[in-house]
Amino acid sequence: MKLFDVYPVFDIEPVKGDGCYIYDKSGTKYLDFYGGHAVISIGHSHPHYVEMVSTQLANLGFYSNSVENSLQVELAEKLGALSGLEDYQLFLCNSGAEANENALKMASFATGKTKIIAFENAFHGRTSSAVNITHNLKIQAPINQTFEREWLPLNEIEPVKLALEKGDIAAVIIEGIQGIGGIYIPTKTFLEAVAELCKTYDVPLILDEIQSGSGRSGKYFAFQYADIQPDIISIAKGIGNGFPIGGILLSPKYKASYGLLGTTFGGNHLACAAAISVLDVIKNENLIENANKIGDYLQAKLKQIPTVKAVRGKGLMIGIDFDFPVGKLRTKLVKEHQLFTGSAGNPNTVRLLPPLNVTMADADLFLEKLILALEN
Ligand SMILES: Cc1ncc(COP(=O)(O)O)c(C=O)c1O
Repeated sequence: MKLFDVYPVFDIEPVKGDGCYIYDKSGTKYLDFYGGHAVISIGHSHPHYVEMVSTQLANLGFYSNSVENSLQVELAEKLGALSGLEDYQLFLCNSGAEANENALKMASFATGKTKIIAFENAFHGRTSSAVNITHNLKIQAPINQTFEREWLPLNEIEPVKLALEKGDIAAVIIEGIQGIGGIYIPTKTFLEAVAELCKTYDVPLILDEIQSGSGRSGKYFAFQYADIQPDIISIAKGIGNGFPIGGILLSPKYKASYGLLGTTFGGNHLACAAAISVLDVIKNENLIENANKIGDYLQAKLKQIPTVKAVRGKGLMIGIDFDFPVGKLRTKLVKEHQLFTGSAGNPNTVRLLPPLNVTMADADLFLEKLILALEN
């Protein structure tokens, strides 16, 4: 059998990871400023992560959601404490798209409506409803296009007001920081005005923190730069540091009932052990502070590079704009300088999503490699 060939790949096969570095079969060491697409939060093969996941696997890898699982309770408590959202409720699933699917479902249950407001350049995943609100018609099949959605310009409040006034909206969904779109940040004023309008019109506000959460932005959630309380928050990627896990945080106003949501694998023992170990490490190693410190340093240094046209982002979620398409530059960085970076929807943008335990020395090495690649 052959693989269904949907991913363009670099001809490199990482076989080992350690902190911010990955190694290929021949032992070549690569600096990872991509984090496997914002997934690696506490670094590759962190000892606490390895220990907790392996011990859990040796004890009990999986049992269904029909029995008590105190690991889920521990995860909810630790996540509540670290994010400051103790009064929210946690539903666990397996990926980002599935998290958004459940978030949209809860909003539609609550309002009885189907139309969704999303934003231009948004990416919310590839399952049916999530892809229908993703601002990329090329990846939507006709079967996905089953409910009405509207994409509004980011940071313009008037169109949001006009859309909500019509009264047929099931939810407004927005990324804490737009990731694949090219690292665009909803302003504090905009987020606060959207939240206020959602409250006025009784429309659930969903914050997609799948990429921008887990401390990456320099706060646990990127929306926490604004003074808002979203109704639902979707999470995935960095919460498992590579173990597939997603979830939604629901404000106390949502009442659960048996069977309302469900999944076979969501909240399984291994996933919980992985996510708990990630929260432990983020807290004990002060990784949110580190994301802020290293992120600020990188942004300041990047702005001094003459060929860099713009730098955007918060913490360790950074977009760098050039006045040329960056495909060749990114390949050169990997092949000649052993440095992984990310792309974005905008062909001129390089996206940086390093592990949150990146050091000052790693940041300097990254800058050195980037400058060298730009000079030659
Ligand atoms: C903001 C955002 N939402 C949702 C998703 C979908 O997550 P997953 O690929 O885990 O389904 C992604 C993935 O890149 C994302 O960046």
